[in-house]
Amino acid sequence: MKTVLTYGTFDLLHLGHIKMLNRLSDLGDRLIVGVSTDEFNNTKGKKSLYSFEERAQIVEAIKGVHKVIPENSWDQKLDDIKKFNVDIFGIGDDWRGKFDFLETQCEVVYLERTPDISTTKLKKSLSSINSEHIQKLKTGLDSVLDVVRAIEQN
Ligand code: CTP
Repeated sequence: MKTVLTYGTFDLLHLGHIKMLNRLSDLGDRLIVGVSTDEFNNTKGKKSLYSFEERAQIVEAIKGVHKVIPENSWDQKLDDIKKFNVDIFGIGDDWRGKFDFLETQCEVVYLERTPDISTTKLKKSLSSINSEHIQKLKTGLDSVLDVVRAIEQN
């Protein structure tokens, strides 16, 4: 029984997350995902759109994910590896080299990220769509107001 462990925020789930979790799940028989808690994200200056509970439920529903645990701090990895008998720690190559110190306990792999997609990018496009929509709505409302005023004057 080979156990794989990874961590992440997984806010606004996208294809990059799914591909990463699928590849990690293919590396072993059991995939455990540490989902960053809102409190932990606060310490990193990160605010997710979905709460920890929502993100945990979403990740838990993904095929190949066997267990979700909370990620509360940077320092829990060694304890988790021992506690869950982890064989492979895997994460995106944006973290390359950062977790080599875990090699004393298990295999460490860095997998290639899916290009051109991230939660940060999605949040940016969502906010620009919002302002565009608001502008369109405002223009529409202004036209309606013009019609109402014209009717009132007659
Ligand atoms: N990931 C990936 N490909 C992407 C985005 C993320 O393989 N395009 C991987 C990360 O390398 C990590 C996991 O998915 O192993 C969780 O990443 P997370 O930080 O939650 O996702 P991001 O979209 O990178 O979020 P942010 O923009 O907030 O950093």
